[in-house]
Amino acid sequence: MIISRRAEFSASHICRNPQLSDEENARLYGPAANANGHGHNYVLEVALDGEPDPATGMIYDLKELKDIMMREVVDPMDHRHLNFEVPPFDTVIPTTENLTLEIWRRLAPHFTEGRARLHTVRVYETDETFVEYAGK
Ligand code: NI
Repeated sequence: MIISRRAEFSASHICRNPQLSDEENARLYGPAANANGHGHNYVLEVALDGEPDPATGMIYDLKELKDIMMREVVDPMDHRHLNFEVPPFDTVIPTTENLTLEIWRRLAPHFTEGRARLHTVRVYETDETFVEYAGK
């Protein structure tokens, strides 16, 4: 059984590889390579899997999940410029793929014990596009 929680945060980023020329960056990332950066209203969906505890009927306390998502992702990233304010994106290109991976790394340690395991992390960069990661 899967339970999910959603949260939103707004952040700016630049998708640019400093080892490539302006021309190559523009070809790879389009306008996202522009050094001024631009913003997104990201939607994060975190899913946990497990079986309900027979005593409580719950897999995991969704309030607790919210608190972890706020502490590990929303508070440090909301209204930030990812490249300049949120490591490791000073050195890692903050594509949605890399952002999703970083969020997984921040959340997974919270779900190594107990009934619930981190199942998927999904990050929507737009209404139409998202990246999903389900661990290795
Ligand atoms: Ni972008």
